[in-house]
Amino acid sequence: RMLKVVLHLLIHLLTFLPAALPLSRDQFPPNFVFGASTSAYQVEGAAYEDGRKPSIWDTFAHAGNGNMFIGDGDVASDQYHKYKEDVQLMANMGLEAYRFSISWSRLIPDGIGKVNPKGLQYYNNLINELISHGIQPHVTLFHWDLPQTLEDEYGGWVSRRSVKDFTTYADVCFKEFGDRVKYWTTMNEPNAYATLGYDTGTFPPQRCSPSFIANCSRGNSSTEPYLVAHYMLLAHASTVRLYRKKYQSMQHGFIGFNLLPLGFLPKTNTSEDVTATMRSYDFFIGWFMKPFTFGDYPDIMKKNVGSRLPSFTQKESNLVKGSIDFIGINFYYSYYVRDSIGNLQSEDRDFWTDAGVEIERLESTDDEIPITPGILQGLLHFMKNAYGNIPIYIHENGQQTPHNSSLDDWPRIKYLHEYIGSLVDGIRSGLNIKGYFVWSFVDAFEILNGYESSFGLYYVDLNDPSLRRQPKLSAKWYSDFLKRKPMDP
Ligand code: NOJ
Repeated sequence: RMLKVVLHLLIHLLTFLPAALPLSRDQFPPNFVFGASTSAYQVEGAAYEDGRKPSIWDTFAHAGNGNMFIGDGDVASDQYHKYKEDVQLMANMGLEAYRFSISWSRLIPDGIGKVNPKGLQYYNNLINELISHGIQPHVTLFHWDLPQTLEDEYGGWVSRRSVKDFTTYADVCFKEFGDRVKYWTTMNEPNAYATLGYDTGTFPPQRCSPSFIANCSRGNSSTEPYLVAHYMLLAHASTVRLYRKKYQSMQHGFIGFNLLPLGFLPKTNTSEDVTATMRSYDFFIGWFMKPFTFGDYPDIMKKNVGSRLPSFTQKESNLVKGSIDFIGINFYYSYYVRDSIGNLQSEDRDFWTDAGVEIERLESTDDEIPITPGILQGLLHFMKNAYGNIPIYIHENGQQTPHNSSLDDWPRIKYLHEYIGSLVDGIRSGLNIKGYFVWSFVDAFEILNGYESSFGLYYVDLNDPSLRRQPKLSAKWYSDFLKRKPMDP
């Protein structure tokens, strides 16, 4: 018994010993993958070219009034025309993988029906270019840019019709690109899509629950976020079934899902706030992870949301359960959680009142995102304990700086250094992390603030018509790391 205790202590010591060595690519297994991310609407541009039709993000960005930012993705970083140049930069910097998304309305302009040959050509070109430079494509099928036609026709994700249409779109992608793409993610941050798009009204299609009716005039129901998430889960599961039945044994790929977990910390150490923190995890992450692991929503959601929470039939439950080969995690912000279970009595219910919590973002003194790798580690351990040791890709992580700030972006370097360093400890302590992607490869149209600030490793001067890319210091830093130079802390 004594020996067991000592061993246990030793293991813990090893686990939490700070990585004393300088950070190095060699501290990671060779098959661990390091990449960078973008999404279609945020970088492609060419919004009206070659047969592409608008998505709900085009409509939202163009609506101007009421939006929180100026700008749109009409041109963005123009990757549609510059993909060759971009892939060359990726190759030069030693990038091992590139995570991008497919614009549904570029490939199938009306969402269903005819495939656009020019769209097909573009993604084939991009994928071939990546592969010929030895860069692994990691493809997201839905990064929020729903074809506007489907939104107009039946309300997009509030309708069950979206399940079938999404699966059909995914089928085209597997058929056309699956011989070369081995890593598929069905949905990007559906928890953000459902809450921001249908609860607070901050994202398109700008629908909200009664509490946020001041923010938007559409929708008026605290049911929709749950309905949307439900159909996204079913669309994912039906797509995975299709992939596994029709493609996986031939194409030998992997298919997963992506979530935005927020780091949650109890505001005080009272048992109320600690329990409230667990409820936040159940609501924001368990909402999807519980169905994947156990085939049903968390009990606390069923209790608090009641009949507004859809339920799974036995068949659906079996379909959803086990439908992920990996989980993608986008990690940025952490929040303090305060218990507000009393608000469950109020008439105006929204997502967070349903959870019985109030959340408050951890801020730093400057405008930068606070660096909290310890919270990410805690979160991943919590997920491992609650939902099993599923392979994890950190699909997004990065620092935001004002768009025209110095190319010597030390805050970004510090951020990446600390997060990548913490992964060494994470892997050593048994987390099943398989890859890490910096958001973003190049400056992009940023969600909710347009071009005011950016996350890119490469700077794009928007006043220069050539939209020339210039490496920030962080690009040089990441490249040195990838090329196995030991990095000083
Ligand atoms: C997550 C989203 O997936 C991405 O679109 C966004 O730009 C980043 N967060 C940064 O805000």
